[in-house]
Amino acid sequence: MKLAIGSDHVGFELKPIIIEYVRELGHEIEDLGTFSSERTDYPQYGKKVAEEVASGNFDAGILICGTGVGISISANKVNGIRAVVCSEPYSAKLSKEHNNTNILAFGSRVVGSELAKMIVKEWLNALFEEERHAHRIEMIHQIEK
Ligand code: RB5
Repeated sequence: MKLAIGSDHVGFELKPIIIEYVRELGHEIEDLGTFSSERTDYPQYGKKVAEEVASGNFDAGILICGTGVGISISANKVNGIRAVVCSEPYSAKLSKEHNNTNILAFGSRVVGSELAKMIVKEWLNALFEEERHAHRIEMIHQIEK
């Protein structure tokens, strides 16, 4: 898969660890910022990654802020985005299988790097159960209209 990743300044230190891990798992990943630990605002990175995923330039995205909350809310404002914030792998896996999430978010103040990697792995390896759940995703699209 070709992934985009973004974070605010709070997620900045965890981001390279996740980038390296995603590459180890055999995926491509591009960093869309932020590129320093200087204080910044999470909505711009949520929006940037979400727009790139929604436009089809990337298959999926990963977002990191302090809690994962603000950056996932921002991403979910973009049509076609289903971003989930997770602090454990079970929800990450089911969010792909049932909800076909296309962005995974987590908080660098909530999860350590090893738990974050576990969450990322479960999410990347999970497959959408289209037959059972496609009509519900369509219902979500109807809400967007
Ligand atoms: C930044 O202080 C913090 O609010 C942000 O990283 C994130 O946790 C927001 O949801």
